[in-house]
Amino acid sequence: MYFPQYRPRRMRQSETLRSLVRENRLHPDSFVYPMFAIHGKDVRNPVASMPGVFQFSINHLVDEAREVAQLGVKSVILFGIPEQKDEAASGAYDPEGIVQMATRALKQELPELTVMADVCLCEYMSHGHCGVVQGDRVLNDVSLELLANAAVSLAHAGIDVVAPSDMMDGRVGAIRSALDQEGHTELPIMSYSTKYASAFYGPFRDAAESPPAFGDRRSYQMDPANSDEGVREALIDIEEGADVVMVKPALPYLDLIYRLKTETRYPVAAYNVSGEYAMVKAAAERGWIDEKAVVLETLLGIKRAGADIIITYHAKDAARWLAEESST
Ligand code: PBG
Repeated sequence: MYFPQYRPRRMRQSETLRSLVRENRLHPDSFVYPMFAIHGKDVRNPVASMPGVFQFSINHLVDEAREVAQLGVKSVILFGIPEQKDEAASGAYDPEGIVQMATRALKQELPELTVMADVCLCEYMSHGHCGVVQGDRVLNDVSLELLANAAVSLAHAGIDVVAPSDMMDGRVGAIRSALDQEGHTELPIMSYSTKYASAFYGPFRDAAESPPAFGDRRSYQMDPANSDEGVREALIDIEEGADVVMVKPALPYLDLIYRLKTETRYPVAAYNVSGEYAMVKAAAERGWIDEKAVVLETLLGIKRAGADIIITYHAKDAARWLAEESST
């Protein structure tokens, strides 16, 4: 019988050999943990469709973030649930807005933690769209001013990174120039450059209380059928000043993660979104999958595709499991 000279199984014989030729490794340094801040005192509302995820009032948010940091996850990204929503998304750029207050509290209590904020209007708009609405249209250019105001107000509150997720055209440029004008030239922008109109955001909209009251987001988020356009979106954002580009969701779009990495050579973030998390949690609860193995394989897959940064609700668990593995 003929055998080729190369037998790939030779280097798979032992864990030591396998680890010598291992091409990718997961490390909590890559993780960003999403958190939801809500007004009130002593609030800790579980999100039904996302077991393990809560809406936290600021005191609990700080405690949770401390635990996150102790596990080795050094960054969080904040979302806010405002007290009131209106047609101008005032809560998004209110100096006393929920994310502004949460940012100040976190930076005061945990100065080493990197605090990022999602910059969008949907959580703060009564109609739940990511921009200003006129009739049934979501207007682009007037929305830019509000987004820029939100970014500047978060900068004043001490945020470490702003992450625009609204998908309006030109928002990275608008935010960059507003930040620069206010002297925040060193504040990085992580742009949700390549964000699809996805059914996988369902559980998040429960958590952030931000489903659109009418229609859907397909006039601004991307068509899941397109990949060249996803690369183009990233290139445009880089030209406008993005420091990091992002693919969202992660799993159905691993090809985009790979393309953004190879075609932009910029840092790439991937958002392992709420629906992806909910599916794993639901199957694990029923005993249908091994949660730890599935989560670590999933995150490794996202990394292998080319992501430098992985935003994931699994971050705490994954960091704990990775620490256990490295100590055995
Ligand atoms: C805000 C925003 C959304 C997510 C992140 N930022 C929701 C949306 O676009 O509808 C989704 C995150 C997730 O599903 O985990 N626009």
